[in-house]
Amino acid sequence: LDVRIQGPATASLSNYNDPLVNYIMIKKYVVVPLSDLEAKIASAKKEAEKIDTYTQFSLEPLNKAITQAEALVKAIKENGLEAQDKTNQEQIRTAINNLDTKLAGLTVYAPNTSYKPGQVWTDTNGAPIQAHGGGIMYDEQSKKYYWYGEDKTNGYLPARGVRVYSSTDLYNWKDEGLALTAIESISQFETDPLISKLYEGRKDKADILNDIGTDRVIERPKVIYNEKTKKYVMWMHTDGPSTTSTAMYAKAEAGYALSDSPIGPFVYQESNRMDRAPKDATYNGQPDQPGMARDMNLFKDDDGTAYLIYSSEENRTIYISKLNDSYTDVAGWHKDGNKERDTEYKAVYGEDYVRVFPGAQREAPAMFKYQGKYYLITSGATGWDPNPARYTVADTIFGDWKPLRDPSIGDKASTTFDSQSTNVIPIDAKKGKFIFMADRWKASDLKDSRYIWLPIEFGQDDEISLQWYDEWKLDTLDRMGKVSINSKLPEKVSVGQVPALPTSINVTNSEGEKLDTPVTWTMNPVNFSKPGTVVVEGTLSKLAGKVIRIKILVIPDHVRYFVHAGGVKTSDYVT
Ligand code: DGJ
Repeated sequence: LDVRIQGPATASLSNYNDPLVNYIMIKKYVVVPLSDLEAKIASAKKEAEKIDTYTQFSLEPLNKAITQAEALVKAIKENGLEAQDKTNQEQIRTAINNLDTKLAGLTVYAPNTSYKPGQVWTDTNGAPIQAHGGGIMYDEQSKKYYWYGEDKTNGYLPARGVRVYSSTDLYNWKDEGLALTAIESISQFETDPLISKLYEGRKDKADILNDIGTDRVIERPKVIYNEKTKKYVMWMHTDGPSTTSTAMYAKAEAGYALSDSPIGPFVYQESNRMDRAPKDATYNGQPDQPGMARDMNLFKDDDGTAYLIYSSEENRTIYISKLNDSYTDVAGWHKDGNKERDTEYKAVYGEDYVRVFPGAQREAPAMFKYQGKYYLITSGATGWDPNPARYTVADTIFGDWKPLRDPSIGDKASTTFDSQSTNVIPIDAKKGKFIFMADRWKASDLKDSRYIWLPIEFGQDDEISLQWYDEWKLDTLDRMGKVSINSKLPEKVSVGQVPALPTSINVTNSEGEKLDTPVTWTMNPVNFSKPGTVVVEGTLSKLAGKVIRIKILVIPDHVRYFVHAGGVKTSDYVT
């Protein structure tokens, strides 16, 4: 080495100050022989053989790196080039690094024993689950749960279709592949072995491609089983440009597919516009676009009647429409089996369908039934961004639906814990065990959107609540069912006073039994020093730690209230 450092501005042989260089690193150039790469390939191959140890998801990239490295060795040998050659050196180093990275990335599947909302949830192959906007069906035949959802591996587009996973414990999910496969091009009907078989002889291939093409919107798929036809019926929001608009959500239709097996392959049938606002409706969110159907869900009632619940009228109004016997259309369109729809729309409002809160702008409906009442949880309509959830309750599915309330409590309640509802899983409806399923969309990288599963907690009357858990297990559901308070409790207290609450109360548990239970009240941090309504929590030790919440009014003494509701300035008002 012959190195001298000097500052250019003051450069002269006698002046060596003002250096611009902090340090110089001098490395010895080591030639990596090809045999190093061959040795690394050999050890990588040994690891790659351990298919029972490592997840398929982490083995795949390792196997790819091995194949690439072997090709490189072959090429170098064939070309007869010296391994020391500079390009070869770079390639050898890169290949070794690549193998090292993939070896370091090998993961062992550790079965899930709890829910960790918002964290990456992997399937039994170790791959992140791709079932967004999804729903769960319990299959009586196979005694398994199936989770269907949007496969967003490619982000928003190209769509891959609907992926399905199976599970017996609701924690660990096995990838069963694509239940419904999106179609790339019209030629796939001829060339692709699966697509050509599924759609053989169909005259409506162009329509199928228009609905479930890889450049189309296939969202919020849900599946139910039809006992009469013995078919698994999948409904989904199919969207894309319409005949008059190039916008991706212009078509606004619901489509369905059928299968003999819960894991598919589902055969896509058709999509349609659904029910429409009655002619005499005082409000109609989109009169010139009747029957719009976007965010959707299915609900199968105890008697086997099934309903499609969807956002219509430009997402301004939720509709609940009864399905026909085969679950292949809304009942109002008078079509059965695979017969054509009647050309005339004959739906009867209140018998075939209803509109819930016209103009309320709700999306992402999720319905369940508990103690004879129907609950419907929805989100607001803000694209991929989260917003506050709202729920409503009714004694019959076609209403009256009670005013909307917010189920979320605690931190992040105002954004539904940064998520949007997609479904409710009835685990044990009799015991009040339900799971709220939601999506935490990541608009910048949709495939990395996360799942938020939380217990639904039943309060007094028909109240429900959702709260955040960093981690929880299914046994949490043991204390979620409804417990009604029979004892008389204080409803109000003067400002600054702490109410006297009993140490034991009488309650009715979720199975209808009456019992006395000790109760521990959490008075701190409840603030009784200000007027208003406060919520006091009590924990019932005899009911698996069930938490009850009671509302107490804190009222200042000797205060008179004057309510001015507007109107005429009468002498009373002036006085
Ligand atoms: C909100 C819907 O709930 C989602 O399913 C999806 O359609 C997004 N909008 C698209 O912005």
